[in-house]
Amino acid sequence: MKIALGSDHAGFALKSAIKEHLEGKGLCCYDYGAFDEKSVDYPDQVPAVVDAVRGRNADLGVLICGTGIGMSIAANKHKGIRAALCGDTYSAVYARAHNDANIITLGSRVMGVGLALVIVDAFLESSFEGGRHSQRVDKIRKFENN
Ligand code: RB5
Repeated sequence: MKIALGSDHAGFALKSAIKEHLEGKGLCCYDYGAFDEKSVDYPDQVPAVVDAVRGRNADLGVLICGTGIGMSIAANKHKGIRAALCGDTYSAVYARAHNDANIITLGSRVMGVGLALVIVDAFLESSFEGGRHSQRVDKIRKFENN
């Protein structure tokens, strides 16, 4: 599995921890920055991860900022992206299972590293159930033409 990672300065440290964790499990990570804690604008960090996911260079994406909110809002402006802000494992599992989320966003300032790693694992290990959820995701896709 290939994972695209991105963050702003606030998410840099957590992104590094997630990268180390995932690579330790043998997953391939593409790190699109930030590469240090110098201040950047979180929307600028989004397109590279979005392109990797939409172009199928990566299976799923992880975007991290201070709250996870800015990354979620910015990523969801992109066609074909369903970004889910998750602060618990249940949400992470069902973001994939029911919403077919292709990016998880996390708030580095609202959770510890340990919880974040478990949440990311839950997201990556879950999969879309399809069935009745497909028609719901299709209805979300139709909003992209609004
Ligand atoms: C940066 O200070 C902070 O605003 C950003 O990381 C994020 O939380 C925005 O949603």
